[in-house]
Amino acid sequence: MKEAKVMKTLLPLLKFYSWAIPAIVVLGVLSSFFEGFGIILFIPLLQSFVQNTSQTASNSFFVNILNKIFVNISSSDRITIIALCILGSIFLKNCLSYSNTVLFSWLSSRIGHRLRSGIFNQLLSVSSSFLESQDSGKLINTLARETWQTTTALSTLVTLIISICTVTVYVVLLLLISWQLTLIFTVLMVLISLFIQFVTRRVKTLGEQAVEANSNLSNRMWEGLAGMKVIRSFGREAYEQKRFDAASEKVVNTFLKLDIFSGTVQPISEVLSSLLLLVIMVLALLQDPSSLPTLLTFIFILYRLQPQIKQLDSTRVTLIGLTSSIQDVMHFLDKSDKPYIHSGQIPLKSLEQGIYFESVNFRYNSQEELALQDVSICIPKGKTTAIVGPSGAGKSTLIGLICRFFDVTSGEIYIGEYPLRELNLTDWRHQIAIVSQDVYMFSTSVMENIAYGRLDATEQEIIEAAKLANAHEFIMQLPGGYDTKVGDRGVRLSGGQRQRIALARAIVRNPQILILDEATNALDSISEHLIQEALNTLSQNRTVIVIAHRLSTIEQADQIIVLDKGRVIEQGNLQQLLERDGLFAQLYYLQYRNAHT
Ligand SMILES: Nc1ncnc2c1ncn2[C@@H]1O[C@H](COP(=O)(O)OP(=O)(O)OP(=O)(O)O)[C@@H](O)[C@H]1O
Ligand SMILES: [Mg+2]
Repeated sequence: MKEAKVMKTLLPLLKFYSWAIPAIVVLGVLSSFFEGFGIILFIPLLQSFVQNTSQTASNSFFVNILNKIFVNISSSDRITIIALCILGSIFLKNCLSYSNTVLFSWLSSRIGHRLRSGIFNQLLSVSSSFLESQDSGKLINTLARETWQTTTALSTLVTLIISICTVTVYVVLLLLISWQLTLIFTVLMVLISLFIQFVTRRVKTLGEQAVEANSNLSNRMWEGLAGMKVIRSFGREAYEQKRFDAASEKVVNTFLKLDIFSGTVQPISEVLSSLLLLVIMVLALLQDPSSLPTLLTFIFILYRLQPQIKQLDSTRVTLIGLTSSIQDVMHFLDKSDKPYIHSGQIPLKSLEQGIYFESVNFRYNSQEELALQDVSICIPKGKTTAIVGPSGAGKSTLIGLICRFFDVTSGEIYIGEYPLRELNLTDWRHQIAIVSQDVYMFSTSVMENIAYGRLDATEQEIIEAAKLANAHEFIMQLPGGYDTKVGDRGVRLSGGQRQRIALARAIVRNPQILILDEATNALDSISEHLIQEALNTLSQNRTVIVIAHRLSTIEQADQIIVLDKGRVIEQGNLQQLLERDGLFAQLYYLQYRNAHT
């Protein structure tokens, strides 16, 4: 059954609160019991009005027992006592159902929190290769929308459980009053729900289509944002607008259809159940006209049961409509089918020797070609190593492996004598600061962006770092100095400025290993000069790995590694490489000529 499947997917979320579901069930049953009891007491109450004490025996055993309980009390007291009992039951029922509401909202908010936190944790811990292989639009949709949907599904599930309890209690009462009427009622009810099930099936398919249409729309929006420059430069505005409108129309249409279908459930069941009620009344009165009080109570219970059953049905429909969202989130949370970077056991205080690659092969995913092939290199401690090569050669990939964003496919990277994968990951990353090709600024102040390198850095240290990175001067000229907001919602910084802030972020960390992935886009010569100057100061007594595009950086390096198509083709210092007269010499003279003409 679909409901069982939904339950099964949701259960792992409930495991930390395993006591809560039974508690909700018990409270639900108790509160329905008191409600039912209150209603049942109407039978003797009504009979006290209609008949005298020597009443005719009812054909229900249960109703007879009820009458016997009150038979010895004088008729004037009886009404008061029964009325008080009814009031008491209603009071208790409401206390219990209030406690259940509180418990339930506590539970669903706790679980919602756990779910979001789990998703964020998954995002932080899953290997970068997984995230990069995902469609970003779909990922954002899962994170933002489907997570909330799953929380809704949980609340719906609990509502469903409570409804089931109430319905069970009511049905038992109905059986006790008259099993014959209950039987007729049930048979007709089953027919009605068969009909409703037909509608439900369609809602489920539409629910899936709605998720699909939504993630498609997010995708269009995301691509529009990220690819805005390309769109404009190729004059594709009209084309993109058309594609976006089509995706948006699709969302409108599917959701409309979904609403149209799920909306029919309620009115249809209302009409059918009113009809049912009439049938029962007519049948019972034809059979035994004197059983009016019992019949009234029976119908009153049915009347109370009707919204419960309606709710049962609509929560079921909602829950099934949410199945795809739940599966989406659960699939994202599933740890078994995703790559992880596991931390090793060996602690690391500092880098004692160099970094060694031994016949390292790496591919991003199994369908793709090797991004690095048979790489064996040594990056000595305390020296500057430049990595050069054409675009797509695998330079950033090599650095990704050193930072352990990915694990090697085969071969091994050694840090001194230990394989990298056996080192404690946090310890290792603690030694590294990286200034990457695409510098990311958080939407906060310049000060906090720099402090991200080391959260406990003092203001003095931050300013010191900014000075070293040649960023202090331009930061002071920003409207708010160090408190200026940058990032998505703040001041726009130029490429060179962002790089210098990123450099300051790296400096404040005071890492043993500094990694720079130089941007390929040409910085203006002043920025370039400033960054170069900063680098010269920083590279003293530090292991620096720099992906170099500029002659000035390359010339300063102690060692140069030349990559092409994922292979190391040359290695040595500037002098040695020029003497070899290979690819590096070609690239070098080409740039040299450009720089000097
Ligand atoms: N996340 C990724 N998933 C799959 N393939 C990737 C990924 N990143 C890079 N690649 C592929 O790996 C190869 C090496 O890419 P890499 O980014 O290391 O090049 P690069 O030398 O840094 O180039 P550039 O100078 O342009 O930055 C390329 O063929 C690229 O298509
Ligand atoms: Mg790169």
